[in-house]
Amino acid sequence: MKTTLNVNGVAHDVDAEPETPLLWVLRDLLGMTGTKYGCGIAACGACTVHVDGQPTRSCQVAIGDVGQSQVTTIEGIAGKAATAVQTAWQKLDVVQCGYCQSGQIMAAAALLAGNAKPTDSDINDAMSGNLCRCATYHRIRAAVHEAARLMEA
Ligand code: FES
Ligand code: FES
Repeated sequence: MKTTLNVNGVAHDVDAEPETPLLWVLRDLLGMTGTKYGCGIAACGACTVHVDGQPTRSCQVAIGDVGQSQVTTIEGIAGKAATAVQTAWQKLDVVQCGYCQSGQIMAAAALLAGNAKPTDSDINDAMSGNLCRCATYHRIRAAVHEAARLMEA
């Protein structure tokens, strides 16, 4: 069945059943493999994208429920918060294996877009659903604070 999805500012016609998870369409039909499959049960956050600006587990969203919403993936993320996050991530060398990191960056950018000066507690609340097998949590938290400083400058 043909469906039109708005991804990273572009309308894409895709041929998939309405119940198909957004994650599969992004990766397998649109070739946007920056969004990762980790668990498939909303437990790891590796598949996090933004749907109308909200961090969303793409493994749990059927494309039939996306409608005209704007989907943003790691390939299309932009704006002040996203730029600050990407700069801070590089500056603090956050990444280890990298598998979880697109989801981490999407979650952090959404946090900072709505809260330009998050506390440790705010960061814990916003990021606790994004798991990292390499345990980069300390650097992630420091990088979110650094991104907030960059946004202030
Ligand atoms: S793959 Fe979606 S939350 Fe783990
Ligand atoms: S950097 Fe390896 S899983 Fe997070």
